[in-house]
Amino acid sequence: MSVLFALLISFDVANARGPGLPNVMVLATGGTIAGSGASSTTVVGYTAATVGIETLLNAVPELKTVANVKGEQVFQIASENMNNDYWLKLAKRVNTLLAQDDVDGIVITHGTDTIEETSYFLDLVVKSKKPVVVVGAMRPSTAISADGPINLFNAVILAGSDEAVGKGVLVALNDQINAARDVTKNNTSTADTFRTPELGFLGYMQGNKPYFYRQSTRRHTADSEFDVSSLDVLPQVDIVYGYANMNRVAIDAFVAAGAKGIVHAGVGDGSLARPAVEPALDEARKKGVVIVRSSRVGNGIVARNGEAKDDEHDFVVSDTLNPQKARILLMLALTKTTDTKEIQRMFFTY
Ligand code: SIN
Repeated sequence: MSVLFALLISFDVANARGPGLPNVMVLATGGTIAGSGASSTTVVGYTAATVGIETLLNAVPELKTVANVKGEQVFQIASENMNNDYWLKLAKRVNTLLAQDDVDGIVITHGTDTIEETSYFLDLVVKSKKPVVVVGAMRPSTAISADGPINLFNAVILAGSDEAVGKGVLVALNDQINAARDVTKNNTSTADTFRTPELGFLGYMQGNKPYFYRQSTRRHTADSEFDVSSLDVLPQVDIVYGYANMNRVAIDAFVAAGAKGIVHAGVGDGSLARPAVEPALDEARKKGVVIVRSSRVGNGIVARNGEAKDDEHDFVVSDTLNPQKARILLMLALTKTTDTKEIQRMFFTY
């Protein structure tokens, strides 16, 4: 596609909204942003996913000044209970809504524990350049200084903005805009938990406006080859965590349970323990299970043919994806192919 043609397409989408306030759909899925505690000082030990979409929106009357907002409760869960079925349901709903001319952008309210996974899944399967912003909160809605209302307000502005068009799925909390591919939860409980370590977040929300300074070079959304529109299930992919004194029990158990792929969250540069782990992964591979070497470190590239002879073992490396995101890309890759060269290409592309 020529640069001019690409520019024309973005211009078209950005301007499809017409004059006036943008139309932003808020899809609620639960989480702490919809949580409630016993008192205003309860910021741990509260219950997530108790407050419905109407109450969430009514708590921020200022939304009316920045967008025409409609809300929908897609489901209501604490995000540790997120699963492939919820993802498929959410992705299909997002794609249906974004195909409508009267929807300019989408905000998804979500628990923070797995926000990075849901947002990366959507980044790979949403078929639109229109903004999709995933937002949560670290304090329940009943807390002193709850962060949900300001985060939601900023997310709606961002989802209705021209600046967010074509940027892929965004995760916006604490006045910072992150790319779905690279953001991760970094602290169990503080409000500034979301970070894109080393690669950096994309921009700020300030004074009711987004300010972008960088963007991901990886393919996403409208340019992605993955399509879940006709899928009801995703292939089983599990994660095995590396540690000193590791054994092969978990690997064998996942293979016996029918895993089609295993992500190994190795130590350091994705290293595999010998003699316990490497032979177990080799045996799994011989049974057709696709093995991805990732790292538990959290930053950096897992070097192909570095700490293991990936060509000989027929393993794939995760590039910079953390294990939980590598699991998502591997699931989607397996909906297209079992060819490990192709899957490696995907890991270097998305
Ligand atoms: C959850 O992920 O649903 C609970 C934690 C949170 O939203 O911060």
